[in-house]
Amino acid sequence: MLVVNIGQLVTPQGDRAVGGPAMRRLTVVEDAYVKVTRGRVVAVGEMGELRGRLRDQTYDAKRGVVLPGFVDPHTHAVFAGTREEEFLARCQGEPYGQGILTTAKRVREASEGELVKQAKRYLWEMLRQGTTTVEVKSGYGLDTSNELKLLRAIRRLGRELPQEVVPTFLGAHAVPEGVKKGEYLAEIITHMIPQVVKRGLAEYCDVFCERGFFSRAESREVLRAARGAGLKLKIHAEEFHNTRGAELAAELGATSADHLLHVSPTGMRRLKEAGVVAVLLPGTAFTLNEPYAPARAMIDDVGLPVALGTDFNPGTCLIASMPFIIGLAVMKMRLTVEEAITAATLNAAAALDRAHALGSLEPGKRADLVVFDLDNYKQLPYFLGHDRVRAVMVAGRVVYENPHPHLREDAGAPRPG
Ligand code: NIG
Ligand code: FE
Repeated sequence: MLVVNIGQLVTPQGDRAVGGPAMRRLTVVEDAYVKVTRGRVVAVGEMGELRGRLRDQTYDAKRGVVLPGFVDPHTHAVFAGTREEEFLARCQGEPYGQGILTTAKRVREASEGELVKQAKRYLWEMLRQGTTTVEVKSGYGLDTSNELKLLRAIRRLGRELPQEVVPTFLGAHAVPEGVKKGEYLAEIITHMIPQVVKRGLAEYCDVFCERGFFSRAESREVLRAARGAGLKLKIHAEEFHNTRGAELAAELGATSADHLLHVSPTGMRRLKEAGVVAVLLPGTAFTLNEPYAPARAMIDDVGLPVALGTDFNPGTCLIASMPFIIGLAVMKMRLTVEEAITAATLNAAAALDRAHALGSLEPGKRADLVVFDLDNYKQLPYFLGHDRVRAVMVAGRVVYENPHPHLREDAGAPRPG
């Protein structure tokens, strides 16, 4: 398969997360093609090189911009019901409260099939905006059988949808009503984690390390048990307050520390020293009217690799679109467009330990890509909220084509042949 007539192909490079000034380094090929064999990129080059070699099946990008498929490394996309009343009340000034328990009640009433059905709609929305790999957390079951139900639903989504789905166990998301925290922690450690691991239902364990939820000591206890059982680690750190969750992520060798709105300079340095990826979720700060994570300090002062994700969930962020998140990162956190693209692709892949396989368009990587109806990549944050995704490919297969009747037609650049 050849993807031809790419107006501009834009990609970071490498097989690991990049930090500091390297985040701005994108490869830009004008008038490009991508050759795909058995789902993987085998070559990227200029159309001129293809002369007389157009025997393969082709996909015409119609002079659009091609980026690697987005990797969304942080979502809570499987849940039941919605919370628009709470959302609107918060818009009127109410504080963020116990919404997780509201959703947990609905999840307990829902069947696995119902959860899958609702989540498919959201994951499809993500896919058509270019997300080709998505991490999904449990965390609204809050007892063993319901957490397992959520994780089975997440596994089914990966089997039944085109994108790759990465499952994370987040039993320590809140303490369920009517249960003492100590008892719940014991259930997580002695029942949930062993069951999750035995059934192969999660790759990561995450914890909501936050005042009023799980302290640093409690988070450490859960994460150590998870690590001992063979899970990799993530942490919700410093979302509303600084509880030194970043330091804990570094101490335990977590893959990523996420949110980080209130991270300290020491926390940032620890993350950098320990090789932990900082996953920033500006859609949550935007939705909650909270201050944004200090992304410029992370990149300029510490050289920390920054990734971007949506945090899509029914309470604090309904944004499912990675292009929208890139726009927010550029406008609100002052990332350059190049940094934001690296953060949403290669560094986001690293936040899922997949930078060797995903996150850039280079030989050997899976041919996940997005074709945009844009003149150049700088228009991506500029056209915030427009529907400019022309097509999405996963492993070299077109899985979405935009039915928009007014997408620009090929400007008529000469085709080699
Ligand atoms: O990442 N912080 C904890 N979890 C979610 C919110 C979950 C909810 O309100 O349902 C978050 O913001
Ligand atoms: Fe989250």
